[in-house]
Amino acid sequence: MSVEFFWRIPTHGDGRMPGSKNWNRGDWKQAKPGTITPGQREGGPDGFAYIDYMAQVAKACEVSGFDGALVPSSLISDEPWMVAAALVRETKTLRFMTAFQPGFIAPVYAAKMAATLQRISGNRLEWNIITGGSAPAQRAYGDMTPHDQRYARTGEWLDVIAGLWQGEPFNHKGDLYEVDGGGMSRPHLQARKPAIYFSGASEPALTVAAKHADYYLMWMEPMDSMRAQMDRLNGMAAGQGRTLKYGVRVDIFARETEQEAWDEARRLWDSVDHAKPVSGNPMNSISGADSVGAKRQAALRGDAGATFEDHIIGPNLWSGLGLIRPGPTIGIFGSYDQVAERLCDYVDGGFDHFILAANPHLEEAYRVGEEVLPRARALLANRMARAAE
Ligand SMILES: Cc1cc2nc3c(=O)[nH]c(=O)nc-3n(C[C@H](O)[C@H](O)[C@H](O)COP(=O)(O)O)c2cc1C
Repeated sequence: MSVEFFWRIPTHGDGRMPGSKNWNRGDWKQAKPGTITPGQREGGPDGFAYIDYMAQVAKACEVSGFDGALVPSSLISDEPWMVAAALVRETKTLRFMTAFQPGFIAPVYAAKMAATLQRISGNRLEWNIITGGSAPAQRAYGDMTPHDQRYARTGEWLDVIAGLWQGEPFNHKGDLYEVDGGGMSRPHLQARKPAIYFSGASEPALTVAAKHADYYLMWMEPMDSMRAQMDRLNGMAAGQGRTLKYGVRVDIFARETEQEAWDEARRLWDSVDHAKPVSGNPMNSISGADSVGAKRQAALRGDAGATFEDHIIGPNLWSGLGLIRPGPTIGIFGSYDQVAERLCDYVDGGFDHFILAANPHLEEAYRVGEEVLPRARALLANRMARAAE
């Protein structure tokens, strides 16, 4: 079995802390001394833009052994396809998994864009198909479509994409899309259709995933609850004669020793005023989010009043991250060996794809690529050798 390790390209800024308050990379914050990319020299811009920083992260991923990188999307982030189009020309082997909402681009045109990017990159584009998890963000995008109807749109969009890639002639008449005399033709037909990495924990999301996903992605949860979702989705996919692979997105804090990793968790914990309610970010606040997946993450953050220790929920697993910054709440904290072992536990649990991340993304890509990936790959190779005996 081949296991893929992806990193994350930080498309809306970066810095030494997970929370954005003191980030010094990217122009989402006012430049100040110590701000890099875009940097200042003698009072003026120094000529390096944020894309130059993202290119450094991509190159760091590539030279340190990652298979690919997620290019995430949020309302305020740079646009992932555009970023990927720039980064593929800065790299040679790294695959780019661009997050995007199908409803925002008509399928025929999106297929053309994807095929073009495959030709530019040598088939290094993958799709992170998302469907929008925050009603306020959707409205700000200009999308008034309610949650479940968004999934109906995603499903039909993916039907059209599958049909287009079967070549000419392709006709489709559905509830939302109509194509007459379409279908991909040379040379776009020869471009590899991007693999579909799919997320969304709601019922309509699972229905679309069962039909279309190559990989189903999850934010990390305790293994039992992830296994329950996988079993259910496996059953739904089997009903359609399909099998799915699974991926998990998790922040990792890998250090020389376990103690150093926990010291880092403690430093993060102490950086927040726990008397104040968690901010109104839609990922952090149930009120803003209609995402079932985000609500599951919010539930894992635990009750107000939980202590640092209460958040230690398993070997090397700490569930306090959602209280420190917006985003998934469980992280892996441990020595290089321990983090590698935990990743292998998830492989044993049925995962064969990881999207890892840590701040700052540049330095940590090297650290994880140099220290954790070789250990994890060695453990996996040993297991495979033992299984083959
Ligand atoms: C691993 C993973 C990555 C995701 N990446 C993004 C992203 O980059 N941008 C985004 O807006 N939503 C992202 N999402 C959110 C989901 O795709 C989905 O839109 C959201 O959870 C709402 O679906 P649900 O109500 O079915 O859970 C991601 C989810 C997961 C699990």
